[in-house]
Amino acid sequence: MMNAAGRSLLRRPQTAAATLSGSRRALATAPKMKSFSIYRWNPDEPNSKPHMQEYSINMNECGPMVLDALIKIKNELDPTLTFRRSCREGICGSCAMNINGSNTLACLCKIDTNPSTAIYPLPHMYVLKDLVPDLTHFYEQHKSVQPYLINDDITDVEHYQSKEDRSKLDGLYECVLCACCTTSCPSYWWNTDKYLGPAVLLQSYRWLADSRDTMKAERLKFLDDAFKVYRCHTIMNCSKTCPKHLNPGKAIAQIKLEMAASH
Ligand code: SF4
Ligand code: SF4
Ligand code: FES
Repeated sequence: MMNAAGRSLLRRPQTAAATLSGSRRALATAPKMKSFSIYRWNPDEPNSKPHMQEYSINMNECGPMVLDALIKIKNELDPTLTFRRSCREGICGSCAMNINGSNTLACLCKIDTNPSTAIYPLPHMYVLKDLVPDLTHFYEQHKSVQPYLINDDITDVEHYQSKEDRSKLDGLYECVLCACCTTSCPSYWWNTDKYLGPAVLLQSYRWLADSRDTMKAERLKFLDDAFKVYRCHTIMNCSKTCPKHLNPGKAIAQIKLEMAASH
């Protein structure tokens, strides 16, 4: 049978190539299920112990990051699942958790291709609910190092800084206080009450290294005891785990050098 232009209207038999691309299309649309094993604990259910709960989601309908998966699970499968998040781009530090054994930010952590991913709250912290750790003590420790500029000269409206001095803050000011490093540190696990831990010490060094700050001597004196800094044994878990690729272990080493020089 021909049409007006003289072309055949009969369907051509399907070629091997066409069949192949058809099966590829089918594969692409077939559900790609992946399982997430997530730590659950609810303080309102005192008789229920902490446990892992499995959720299975179709990766064809999920964004690429672990935070995307958590949001999908909360929106579509279980609204009771509790976790912190805000910016979804590694700026707020809220979504810190332990994913497949490493502390990291869920919004910066790509979902891997393994069949299952295990997610726990940050280790060695009290848990408020599910993936939400209690950071009260961590924030109190942060407050104790006076994490802000202190300058005796109140006559100046602006405190100038050379480009060279400003560059000394690179690798320090980017810290988002997620606590991934601190909760990966064995010394912090055992001496949480007295050792300040890598995040707070990096924050402290950020102000020690600031040419505009006039409190350096007092800041060093505050840190100078057997626990606040010297519980660091330079194992470097902290620098290995930092999702912002900072080096708190190096900041602690700088504090130790400055403390030694001040004696
Ligand atoms: S280098 Fe220090 S702060 Fe970092 S993990 Fe080791 S002991 Fe903790
Ligand atoms: S140093 Fe890195 S891991 Fe530690 S609190 Fe800052 S951003 Fe988080
Ligand atoms: S949601 Fe803000 S750092 Fe992940």
